[in-house]
Amino acid sequence: MKRIGILTSGGDSPGMNAAIRAVVRKAIYHDIEVFGIYYGYHGLMNGNIEKLEIGSVGDIIHRGGTMLYSARSEEFKTSEGQKKGIEQLEKFGIDALVVIGGDGSFQGAKKLAEHGYPTIGVPGTIDNDIPGTDFTIGFDTALNTVIDAVDKIRDTATSHERTYVIEVMGRDAGDIALWAGLADGAETILIPEEGYSMEDVLARLKRGHDRGKKHSIIMVAEGVGSGVEIAKEIQERANLETRVTVLGHIQRGGSPTASDRVLASRLGAKAVELLLNGEAGKMVGIEKNELVSHDIDEALAREHVVDKDMYNLSKELSI
Ligand code: F6P
Repeated sequence: MKRIGILTSGGDSPGMNAAIRAVVRKAIYHDIEVFGIYYGYHGLMNGNIEKLEIGSVGDIIHRGGTMLYSARSEEFKTSEGQKKGIEQLEKFGIDALVVIGGDGSFQGAKKLAEHGYPTIGVPGTIDNDIPGTDFTIGFDTALNTVIDAVDKIRDTATSHERTYVIEVMGRDAGDIALWAGLADGAETILIPEEGYSMEDVLARLKRGHDRGKKHSIIMVAEGVGSGVEIAKEIQERANLETRVTVLGHIQRGGSPTASDRVLASRLGAKAVELLLNGEAGKMVGIEKNELVSHDIDEALAREHVVDKDMYNLSKELSI
C-alpha cells in the first residue's frame, strides 16, 4: 500500500479535523502518501482530490467542522455512483480509503468494500448512534454545547419560574438527550428508544411545582417529535408558563473537547494501522476504552441501543 485517500461525509462533527490529522500524520509517518477527497462521496465521484502533506493538517486539531468539507450524496447510493467513485480512486492510484462519518457514510463505505475496494470507517457524528463503538467523534463536544446552553436557560427559567422544553439533535437516537439530560439534571428526558406518557410528564412537573421548584427542564430528543408541540401541550394541560428552545445546528459546531480530540486521534491512527495490516471492510471503534475493529457490515446489521441503566438512573435522580 503506497497511497490512501481520506474523506468526511454526512453531518460534520467536532473532532473530524483531529481525525483527519491523525490519519494523514500516521500514514506519512509510515511512508504512505495521503490524498484528501473534498465534499465527501460527491467530491469523490467528481475527482475533487488533492495530495495532503504534513503541513496540510497543521493548526486544525482545535477547529470544529471539517477541512475536507462534507456533503450528502444521493448519487453515491447507486451502484453507478459507487463505480464512478472507484474509477476516480484508481485514476489517482489510491489503494485504500478512510471514511470519517456517521451511518450514511458507513453505508457508502460498506458498498465500496462490497465492490472489493479496501475501505475503513471512522465513526464521526454527534449522534453517537453507530453500533460497534461506545462513543463517536463529536458526541462529547455536542453534549458540552447542550449543557452550556441549558445552564444559561436555567438562569432565566428560574427568574421567571418557567418550564423549558429543550429539543436536541440525534436523528433517531436519544443519546444526546439522555446524556445531556442526566448532566443537566433535567426533570424529564424523552428519547425515541423509550416510550413516554404525557400524563407521566405532567405528574412529574406537578410534583416538582408542588414542592416549590422554581423551574423545570424537559429534554426532548428530536427523534421523539417536535419540542414546540410538546411545549404547547404542557402549557395547555399543566397551566405552567412554558417556553421551548430548539438548539439545532449549534450542537454540530465549536472547538472539539479534549476527549473528542483524543478519541479522534486514536481512532484515526487505528484506521491506518488496520490498513497497514492489510485489513479492509472494517470500522474502528472504542469499547470499554479499548480500541477495537469490526466488519462494517456486521456492525451496521446491529441495532443501536441507548444505555438503559443510565435512562433508569436519570428517572431515579429526577424524582
Ligand atoms: O447526523 C447529524 C445530524 O446533526 C442529526 O443530529 C440531525 O438530525 C441531522 O444531522 C441534521 O441534518 P442536516 O444538517 O442535513 O439538517
